[in-house]
Amino acid sequence: MNVVSLIEIKKRGGELSTVQIDELIAGLTADAFPDYQMAAWLMSVWFQGMTDAETTALTGAMLRSGQELDWADLEAPTADKHSTGGVGDKVSLLLAPLAAACGLAVPMLSGRGLGHTGGTLDKLEAIPGYDIHLSNDAFRRVVDDQGCAIVGQGPDIAPADGRIYALRDVTGTVDCIPLITASIMSKKLAAGPRSIVIDLKVGNGAFMTDLEQARELARRLVMVGEAYGRRMAVVFSDMSQPLGVAVGHANETLEAFTALKPGCRAAAPQDLVALTVELTAHMVLLAGRSKDLVAAKALVIEAWDSGRAFEHTLAWVAAQGGRLAPDRDDLGLDVAPRLVPVEAVRSGYISDFASREIGLALGEIGGARRTVTDALDLSSGVDVLAVRGDLVAVGQPLAWIRSRDRDAARRCADRIAAAVTIDDDAGPTPELVLDTLPGA
Ligand code: URA
Repeated sequence: MNVVSLIEIKKRGGELSTVQIDELIAGLTADAFPDYQMAAWLMSVWFQGMTDAETTALTGAMLRSGQELDWADLEAPTADKHSTGGVGDKVSLLLAPLAAACGLAVPMLSGRGLGHTGGTLDKLEAIPGYDIHLSNDAFRRVVDDQGCAIVGQGPDIAPADGRIYALRDVTGTVDCIPLITASIMSKKLAAGPRSIVIDLKVGNGAFMTDLEQARELARRLVMVGEAYGRRMAVVFSDMSQPLGVAVGHANETLEAFTALKPGCRAAAPQDLVALTVELTAHMVLLAGRSKDLVAAKALVIEAWDSGRAFEHTLAWVAAQGGRLAPDRDDLGLDVAPRLVPVEAVRSGYISDFASREIGLALGEIGGARRTVTDALDLSSGVDVLAVRGDLVAVGQPLAWIRSRDRDAARRCADRIAAAVTIDDDAGPTPELVLDTLPGA
C-alpha cells in the first residue's frame, strides 16, 4: 500500500475503495506507516468529506481492528443505546434495567467522562464494589441472568478508533461527521447488539449545537448501522440545560436508582423520566416487543411502576459486585453533602444555561477530567434545582454544590452562578424531544 497515494486521492476529492480503506486501517494498526501520514489523511477527509460507501467501509475496517461480541446464543433480543454525551445524562442507569424488565438483553460497553460530559462508568464506580472489568464470560453470564450489564470498553474493542481519535484530538479533525460516524458505530457494532437507539443531543451542552448538523450525523449513523444489519432509531434530544437535577457521579447514580424505586417515578425529575421512557420505548419497539411507540411506552412504564426495573437494577449491580443499600435514602452511596448554594443574583426568569460551563465547573470540586488519566472525587457534584422558564426570586438557591471542600465549592458555585442567565423574559422553553428517526 502506498499511503501517499491514498492521501493524494482524498486530498483531490476522490473516492477510496473498500479495499484501500481496509489497507489503510490495517496498516495503521500494524504500525506500518507513521502517525503523521494518518494525520494528513484525516485532514484531507476533514476538507473533502467521505461518501456513504467510504464511511461504511471505514466503520467496518475500524470494527474489524478488534474483537466483535456475538450474542446469537441469547434468547432475548439484544439492544443498546448510545448517547452523544451531555450534562447530567444518567439515562443508561435507568434504561438498561428498564429494557431488561421489558424482556430485552442489554450488553452495554461504556466510557468515562471527559471535559464537560460525564461518563456512565464513573457513575457506576461510585457504587462500592462495582466491577467495570468483567471477563467476556462473566459479562455474558450477567447479561443472560439479569438482562443487562454495563462494563468498560476494553482495549480490544475497535482499537483503531483509539489510535485515530487520539490523532483527531490533536489535529483539529474531531468535528467531522464521517469520522464521528465511523468512531461511534465501530464501537457500538463491536458490542454486537441487534438494535441500536441513538440519543443525539443537541444544544450548548452537547457535541452538536445545531439541529441540521445533528440530522446529517443521524442520517449517517442510521445508514451505517443498517448497512451492518442493525435496526436503528435516533432520538434528537435537547441539551440546552442539564438533564435532571444531579450533575456529577454518586449524586447522579442516586438520582437514577431512586427514581426507579416503585412509587418514585412521579417525584423524579420529569425531563429525565420522559427521555428515559422515550429511549427505552424505541428499544422495545425495534426489538419487536410492541406494535407501536405508544404501546412500547406503556410497557416501559409498567416495568417501572411495578418495581421490576428496580429489582433488575439490584440484581444486575449485585452481579457486578456492587453493594447498594436499597432501604437507605442514600442507597449506600457516598454522596457529599450539599455545602454551598448558588443563589439567584436577581429576580426574573431563567432564560439560559451555559450547560457546557456547568459540566466544566465540576472540575473545581474534583468532578471533571481534563485528561483521561485524571482521578475524580466521585462523591462531589452539583444539584441544579432550576430549569429554563422558572420564575425565581433574588437570593433563591438555584443549585447546590456537593463537596467536602468549602473553598472549592465556593469557586464552583461562582462559576455556576455565572453560567445561569436570568432575564425579564423567559424566552422559548425548548422541547425535550426535538425529533425522532424514523418519525413517529
Ligand atoms: N464520540 C465518539 O465516540 N467518537 C467521536 O468521534 C465523537 C464522539
